[in-house]
Amino acid sequence: MNMIESSIINNKKMGDDKGYLTVIEEQITVPFDIKRVFYIYGTQEDVRRGYHAHYKTRQALVSVSGSCKVYLNNTKRKTDILLDSPTKILILEPNDWHEMYDFSEDCVLLVLASHLYDAEDYIRDYEKFIEFYSEKL
Ligand code: TYD
Repeated sequence: MNMIESSIINNKKMGDDKGYLTVIEEQITVPFDIKRVFYIYGTQEDVRRGYHAHYKTRQALVSVSGSCKVYLNNTKRKTDILLDSPTKILILEPNDWHEMYDFSEDCVLLVLASHLYDAEDYIRDYEKFIEFYSEKL
């Protein structure tokens, strides 16, 4: 398995002054089939969550309301992404350790995932993450 670079997609905003609509379709807007959807909301402002990477699961993150930041670390580059628009999609690859933080009070972070929930697909131990992914660079 090779490392895959996470990326940002600028999605289309449709509608008019009366209101807007944005669409996400599997294999069209996002590069995978969508097996699972969940959303993160009501997160306290000073809370940081996530702290894991995955073996297989690819995800698409969109802040459909409010904003939050995502720290990404794929062992060779570390970056912080601001999700502050319902049209901005972060394609989060399994090889990125991620932490979400700076949630605005009204943040609703929508997550689309390529796999069903499986606790075995999580790497929650940072040392194990470094060991597993640094050899794939
Ligand atoms: P967790 O991954 O710990 O959230 P975070 O890292 O953002 O704080 O998930 C919180 C709880 O929800 C945990 O008990 C696992 C459960 N969960 C599911 O049952 N299904 C899912 O699809 C997800 C994402 C979490």
